[in-house]
Amino acid sequence: MKRIAVLVSGSGSNLQALIDAEHQNQLGRGKIVGVLSNKSDAYALTRAQQANIDTAIISHRDFPTRESFDQQMHQQLLDWNVDLVVLAGFMRILSSDFVSQWQGRMLNIHPSLLPHYKGMHTHQRVLNTGERFHGCTVHFVTAELDAGQAIVQAVLDVRQNDTAETLATRIHPLEHKIYPQAVQWFCNEDLTWHDNHAYLQNKPLQESLKVCYFD
Ligand code: GAR
Repeated sequence: MKRIAVLVSGSGSNLQALIDAEHQNQLGRGKIVGVLSNKSDAYALTRAQQANIDTAIISHRDFPTRESFDQQMHQQLLDWNVDLVVLAGFMRILSSDFVSQWQGRMLNIHPSLLPHYKGMHTHQRVLNTGERFHGCTVHFVTAELDAGQAIVQAVLDVRQNDTAETLATRIHPLEHKIYPQAVQWFCNEDLTWHDNHAYLQNKPLQESLKVCYFD
């Protein structure tokens, strides 16, 4: 069994997709054992409680430095005996020490086609540039923000009348498809990490990035 912790800051619709996938036996050997939020009012916590998953609130405001906040999270993850850390709308930048302790065992979902549009406000920036395509990416987390190896992406056409809000609404269901898939690959050991490189079914991921296209 692979013990999963999900880190959240907000609504938690991706957490919900992962909970639903686990209930439908679609996370392989994965089991969500804890949900950690840096915000006490995150709706994601309610979703976790409804699914009888242990929760922890660790507020970054209670710590003098990023490193001390991250150290407290690290301790909680050790207490849960976690094999995989899943960032699902977790809106804090992580220190390089924390990231290196979970390297190869921490995934994130980002609302853009990485390596394009790292950082915040991706939908508006895609519209401002007049891109034809947009989407989302599940990737391994490395110390550089949104720069780790991509695992799976979902792509959609940008429509003429799209706004940042409609793009967010159209991308969410795609996130809910590809994130459980990537977590299942990890939990079944199809997705592996050795010597700083990611592999999918023993092929270097660089060569086998999965891209799903949606209209
Ligand atoms: C998702 O769209 C995710 O891609 C984004 O936050 C949203 C969380 O939604 N993550 C980032 O922007 C990370 N930089 P959710 O709380 O409903 O899962």
